[in-house]
Amino acid sequence: MAKNQEKTLRVGLAGLGTVGAGTFKILQANADLITRRTGVRIVVTAVNARNKGKDRGIDLSSVEWVDNPIDLASHPDVDVVVEAMGGENDPALSLVRMALQNGKPVVTANKALLAHHGVDLSRISEKHNAPLMFEAAVAGGIPIIKMILEGLAANNISGLYGIMNGTCNYILTTMERTGENFSDVLEEAQKLGYAEADPTLDVGGGDSGHKLVLLGALAFGCQPDYQNLSVEGIDRLSAEDIIIAGEFGSRIKLIGQTVKLEDGRILQMVSPCLVPRTSPLAHVDGVLNGILSQGDFVGLSFVEGRGAGEGPTASAIVSDLMDLANGVNGPVFGIPADQLQSSPSASRDDWTGEFYMRLVVQDLPGVIAEIAPILRDHQISIESLIQRGRSADQPVSIVIITHQTTGKNIRLACQEIADLPSVLDDPLTLPILKI
Ligand SMILES: NC(=O)c1ccc[n+]([C@@H]2O[C@H](COP(=O)([O-])OP(=O)(O)OC[C@H]3O[C@@H](n4cnc5c(N)ncnc54)[C@H](OP(=O)(O)O)[C@@H]3O)[C@@H](O)[C@H]2O)c1
Repeated sequence: MAKNQEKTLRVGLAGLGTVGAGTFKILQANADLITRRTGVRIVVTAVNARNKGKDRGIDLSSVEWVDNPIDLASHPDVDVVVEAMGGENDPALSLVRMALQNGKPVVTANKALLAHHGVDLSRISEKHNAPLMFEAAVAGGIPIIKMILEGLAANNISGLYGIMNGTCNYILTTMERTGENFSDVLEEAQKLGYAEADPTLDVGGGDSGHKLVLLGALAFGCQPDYQNLSVEGIDRLSAEDIIIAGEFGSRIKLIGQTVKLEDGRILQMVSPCLVPRTSPLAHVDGVLNGILSQGDFVGLSFVEGRGAGEGPTASAIVSDLMDLANGVNGPVFGIPADQLQSSPSASRDDWTGEFYMRLVVQDLPGVIAEIAPILRDHQISIESLIQRGRSADQPVSIVIITHQTTGKNIRLACQEIADLPSVLDDPLTLPILKI
């Protein structure tokens, strides 16, 4: 904070899109409340975006426009930088790095940046005693980072399970409600603005993965490790999968889970899963996010809310700014960067539990007799089996619910099953959550 303005925190705002403009609006609309709660006036003094002439629905007449976002890192009238441009590389990376090197705290909503450069940035943050905060980067308005770092801080966390992508959850909820297929619902979601023109990062699971590695770092004190993440998206799911899951008392959700295994390794995995209707995660509908955590003393905790959009995300950014105004300053991932463990990460192979397996096969006698020995050879026993879609010359779906097995057994069995001439597509396998 500038010495001559003890009671003012001056913000340099890079990016004036959904998140940046939203941040500007809250700081204006709730200025009195924010000052009452912190004793500090938080004001935007300088901004940057790509297009200076764009109407953003905010009055920028009292703030300075800088031509290069990097200039905010050394601007004399900026005490803290808010990075709301996005992207894992420049200019966001250089801006954050340089601001921290100059001793200026940074608040960001950029999960991709932190998932890829979190360790490096946390070292710089510590070296220059400049906090780096990112409540907005995971699950938007849900205060999951403060919950892990503060509310659950006394617990050993054994697992976190989250629905962290509103686009995927909207698509899955709509598929269930309407019986439509993935591609049709995706197209509608794009028209409604719930899905990006290029939906790959969302529906492929990468966006959930970015968020998951940040939660894993906070929960387990390990380096954010996007490389060792198993990621599967929702694009291979059919309306039939959702209906059959329902018949087994479950709903299908895209779940990011990070779990400490008995041997101490950390499993990080994003995958569509069957979630029993008794789980609070099963009731997170539409664009909402929800996260279930398990701590050794607190037990299960569940939070749900809006994971994206202008208001929720900007609300999280401003909560970080208020923490800075209150003097909060700690390591980025809760413990010093050089103590973050690079623990060997477990993969989907290590996930243990029951699986849903859908095979698309030719409707010929003897197909099941070919599949059964492969399952047996990989220690997979069948809990139930159903067959759907019988009409002349049409492929049929066989759905198998397995007893408990490992992801590795499932993978190896599926490789062999996929090679059978009567099997027409790669098998789809979904873990069945029991939480
Ligand atoms: N939207 C959400 O609900 C949400 C939720 C959680 C986290 N986030 C994260 O928040 C960040 C921002 O997202 P957003 O939705 O606000 O994005 P957005 O609406 O596309 O806004 C991005 C802003 O950054 C500016 N910008 C982009 N590239 C730039 C560059 N190279 N140089 C200067 N300015 C640049 C753009 O300028 P112009 O306006 O002039 O084009 C725009 O103002 C991302 O990291 C995103 O992952 C977003």
